[in-house]
Amino acid sequence: MKIAALVGSKREDSYNHRIALFMQERYRDQLDIDIKDIASLPHFDQDDEENPPEVVQQFKKEIREADGILIVTPEYNHSVPGMLKNALDWCSRVDKVMTGKPVLIAGASPGFLGTVRCQVHLRQILAAPGMAAKVLPGNEVFIGAVHQKMDDEGSITDTGTVEFLDMVVGNYVNFAELERKKEELAGN
Ligand code: FNR
Repeated sequence: MKIAALVGSKREDSYNHRIALFMQERYRDQLDIDIKDIASLPHFDQDDEENPPEVVQQFKKEIREADGILIVTPEYNHSVPGMLKNALDWCSRVDKVMTGKPVLIAGASPGFLGTVRCQVHLRQILAAPGMAAKVLPGNEVFIGAVHQKMDDEGSITDTGTVEFLDMVVGNYVNFAELERKKEELAGN
């Protein structure tokens, strides 16, 4: 299954980016995860939405061609980082490339809440008419106190967190497969 991953932080030592890399490696037998470069997308401009810059066209093509989406993001000021929101705004217009895509959300922060507030907003955003993505219900991956749960190489060392991630990814694979069958039955 081809998965486009969007990471909400461009920080070099980003915990969230490391988690995306950890998932890419750990679940490589189930998911072919490709982390997309959303940092180089220009700010969304409605004047350009019909004929966006090449980098946006390429990004939207990759989203369109993906079987599913993984979002791994920090929380910024109790919400979704602007860089991630910007990428989603491009996706939401004209050909609406997120429509029907099965989405798995995860997030990490050094604080205790582990991006809870961001993910509440993110689920709302992904339900907007221009998005209409199919977010895996439940299975909320909030990795709080992340600095105590990873080693210097970027592996998650907390076994409870890894076991939970294993379960969530298994649920996601089943969910995505079921959604694909439903689409087939509907003739899409
Ligand atoms: C943060 N941070 C943060 N943490 C949190 O739990 N809730 C929040 O609302 C915020 N807000 C916030 C705003 C901004 C602008 C920054 C830069 C940071 C802290 C954040 O969780 C921490 O920096 C993470 O390490 C960022 O994730 P990455 O870059 O490590 O993936």
